[in-house]
Amino acid sequence: MRERTLIDIKGMSKSYRMGEVTVHALRDLNLSVRSNQVTIILGPSGCGKTTLLNQIGGIDSPTKGTITVNGKQIQNLNQKQLTMYRQRNIGFVFQFFNLIPNLTASENVEFVLEYVMDMPSKDAHERAQGYLEKVGLGDRGDHYPFQLSGGEQQRVSIARALAKEPLILLADEPTGELDYTTGKKILKLLTSVANDGRAVMIVTHNKELAKIGHKVLYLRDGRIVKEERNDDPEDVTKLEW
Ligand SMILES: Nc1ncnc2c1ncn2[C@@H]1O[C@H](COP(=O)(O)OP(=O)(O)O)[C@@H](O)[C@H]1O
Ligand SMILES: [Mg+2]
Repeated sequence: MRERTLIDIKGMSKSYRMGEVTVHALRDLNLSVRSNQVTIILGPSGCGKTTLLNQIGGIDSPTKGTITVNGKQIQNLNQKQLTMYRQRNIGFVFQFFNLIPNLTASENVEFVLEYVMDMPSKDAHERAQGYLEKVGLGDRGDHYPFQLSGGEQQRVSIARALAKEPLILLADEPTGELDYTTGKKILKLLTSVANDGRAVMIVTHNKELAKIGHKVLYLRDGRIVKEERNDDPEDVTKLEW
């Protein structure tokens, strides 16, 4: 599929009012993301990385500015419209997993496919199993989140986001709980879906991962302070860190 602009953000700010104090989490951000691209987002804790993904993912709405995704503006959508937008377009790997505790690993993945995407339960089960295998948890489908390690829970949440086969995959520190080798495999999997018109955005603390992005955003204090482009990024499996 031909490359095109998938995400276009203009003059976006996000503030949170906390009693007397206003926190400026994002300040006057401009950003454009093309299809078939991997975007890497780097920056210290508290600089606004999660807030940025939340605005793009329709989990939250900006205070100011416009966000155009796939040709449609989303900044003024109401809660119901945002839910539909998320269902149709977004796969989200949450920093803190957000698994449903009383569902098994497999059911956590199936749930989205069946109830959100209307997939017949047999197909949902098969697809869930396939994605659990891709993240190395093919034999853990029947385990509940409390029976899994942090890294395994993180991989279930990755399988859940991937299984939707979304237009835009947003991954918030997706390897934070993973060992080196597993982390590399998962990053390979995540970056590999940036094709067929789709895009992937990955938040990380690991500066080495700048090398795997077509675009690298450096965030500081709610602003993009540096932006790099690389038309021929490295394969994560060939990197050492
Ligand atoms: N829901 C919220 N309410 C109030 N402040 C928030 C909220 N979410 C984030 N913030 C603040 O916005 C800033 C950016 O947070 P965040 O996007 O989570 O940073 P990062 O993901 O880069 O660590 C921080 O100062 C944080 O405390
Ligand atoms: Mg964060």
